[in-house]
Amino acid sequence: MSFKEKIDLKRLPLHIAVIMDGNGRWAKQRGKLRVFGHESGVIAVRETAEACAEIGVKFLTLYAFSTENWNRPKKEVDALMSLLVKSLNKETKTLMDNDIRLRAIGDLSQLDPQCRQQLQETIEVTSGNRRMDLNLALSYSARWEITEATRKIAELVKAGELLPENINQELFSSMLTTKNIPDPELLIRTSGENRISNFLLWQIAYSELYFTPVLWPDFRREHLYEAIYEFQHRERRFGKISEQINPRIK
Ligand code: IPE
Ligand code: IPE
Ligand code: MG
Repeated sequence: MSFKEKIDLKRLPLHIAVIMDGNGRWAKQRGKLRVFGHESGVIAVRETAEACAEIGVKFLTLYAFSTENWNRPKKEVDALMSLLVKSLNKETKTLMDNDIRLRAIGDLSQLDPQCRQQLQETIEVTSGNRRMDLNLALSYSARWEITEATRKIAELVKAGELLPENINQELFSSMLTTKNIPDPELLIRTSGENRISNFLLWQIAYSELYFTPVLWPDFRREHLYEAIYEFQHRERRFGKISEQINPRIK
């Protein structure tokens, strides 16, 4: 039986986040340039987005480019940016066919104008879509986001519009780029690396972490279903004990 048949569609995570990693190693294994790995990763993005939308996941956040990735060789950064523009353009049809709304989180001011324009265009064209939100994390890092949120809060306090005693977790969340999006219940990282690499640090406080050795360009629907299946077999206790979560267990 495939994992797709084994997952319980009534208990899906509302929000899945993915650290798409391993493109470079995938290309290297084939004696190709790293950029070939990035290009091949687009298929995995399409498969994952379509599969999530089809089964009923409401939010998918993909880590596509981190703040730290700006430090890669310029040739690779340029190739990634032009791939982004090309893919957004080409995959707009996929987004429309699947009723997916595109959004972006991150320090978008760092992107070059052509990139920003294409991003804006795809966001606008898909803005009426309702089946799923696809959030692309671009030039994103959690520490950048948390620092920005802190600055916004400090400015409100300085302007006399917010009292320090009214700062709480809800308010802080509303200052993040993910405001109005529920925290991800499931975070997947491909390529066998067991780290978070500055992704959604605030939001993943209680996410289930799922690490797979599969390299991103090889990631397919069935790998996603497997991750969801494993997620559904974990006990999320949120600090409580088993008996409180499932009173039938003695
Ligand atoms: C993920 O693959 C894509 C980006 C970070 C942009 P990598 O490029 O990090 O691939 P590896 O980890 O070097 O194999
Ligand atoms: C994390 O992958 C960022 C993205 C997937 C966009 P990296 O490959 O950049 O992370 P590290 O450097 O291995 O931690
Ligand atoms: Mg990597």
